[in-house]
Amino acid sequence: MKLNKLKITDIELKDKRVFTRLDLNVPLDSNCNITDDYRMVSALPTIRHILEKGGKPILASHLGRPKGKVVAELSMKPVRKQMEELLSTEVILARNIVGSDSIEMSNNLKTGQILLLENLRFDPGEKKNDPDFSKQLSLLGDVYVNDAFGTAHRAHSSVSGITKYYEQRAMGFLMKKEMRWLGYVAENPNKPFIAVLGGAKISGKIDVIMNLIPRVDTILIGGAMAFTFLKARGVNVGKSLVDDSKIDEAKKICKYAIEQNTNFLLPNDFIVTTEISEDAQTEIVDRENIPEDRIGVDIGPMTIKIFTHALLTAQTIFWNGPMGIFEIEKFSNGTLDIARTIALTTRKGAIAVVGGGDSVSAVNQTGLQKSFTHISTGGGASLEFIAGKELPGIVSLSDRENT
Ligand code: 3PG
Repeated sequence: MKLNKLKITDIELKDKRVFTRLDLNVPLDSNCNITDDYRMVSALPTIRHILEKGGKPILASHLGRPKGKVVAELSMKPVRKQMEELLSTEVILARNIVGSDSIEMSNNLKTGQILLLENLRFDPGEKKNDPDFSKQLSLLGDVYVNDAFGTAHRAHSSVSGITKYYEQRAMGFLMKKEMRWLGYVAENPNKPFIAVLGGAKISGKIDVIMNLIPRVDTILIGGAMAFTFLKARGVNVGKSLVDDSKIDEAKKICKYAIEQNTNFLLPNDFIVTTEISEDAQTEIVDRENIPEDRIGVDIGPMTIKIFTHALLTAQTIFWNGPMGIFEIEKFSNGTLDIARTIALTTRKGAIAVVGGGDSVSAVNQTGLQKSFTHISTGGGASLEFIAGKELPGIVSLSDRENT
């Protein structure tokens, strides 16, 4: 995938309506309050730049998965409010996404004001990359900027179809930063390079693991994903979560790691329990002795020691996915200790890139965000990027000449 793309600083913005695709898909609680505005904060430099250059930002994003229908709980209203607070500038929410009303609102926008479209996925055309919807969207902007790295792996209208209507398709500052650091990890990392992968399932991570194996020195596996690998090796994992449909893939991954001489470390011990709750009784068992009626919920102290020892030697670290069910305090030690160790290694000079919503929340819990080189706003997008896949949101940007 060619990465030398046109940047927002390469295009003329003055008096232009700038169709700006952002990923403002932020988590909401049951009262529609935003629980984490990291994606919004990350989009601010691009919006501020457009305003400073005299452009008129027309912001477009999806929120959740409303399946092509208007779902009141997934309206962009809380995003509008929060954006206004973050920027101290008026943000107007368009009632509709496309159509004459929205076009008129975009044309009437005064310098300094911002227009935010309603949730793009309220229209079934967005996910289908529908040509008519793409064309309607394009009528809302004179120039096109994509800063939605988190959505770059989706070939949807606002990411892909719309771009054929613009001669110049530029990336925003966030997209640039994401490509810089994920590109560093994917292409030219300093060694030793260690990847830490966790989370519940290996599906969705198989390509990234296969792509990482020849490039890394060590892969550390945690989370429930580890049980699928252990079961593939014939270890009894009790009632722990296993992705049975992926056992063959897990075997292939282990074999490939051996062929490539890559350290592929599975946990040696676990915290196990009979129930997943705050009051659960836990014990530490080594991996060969998981009782039949127990569920593994976190990596154990011996594993933390081994993983820590390895991580402290790294020059580059890529981390995606928690080591256990860290949302429950009793099961959070592994994930939080790994986060602290990565932060420490980074402070000693390593480059550490974190991707995926869960690992990012874990980093936030430690309060050590500033110690990481880059915290990606992309979950699926960062994995696909590292897996070497072409992302529609990057491919559709204009190539930059000369440099
Ligand atoms: C994400 O949260 O990963 C992006 O916003 C994409 O959302 P999606 O997985 O619903 O397409």
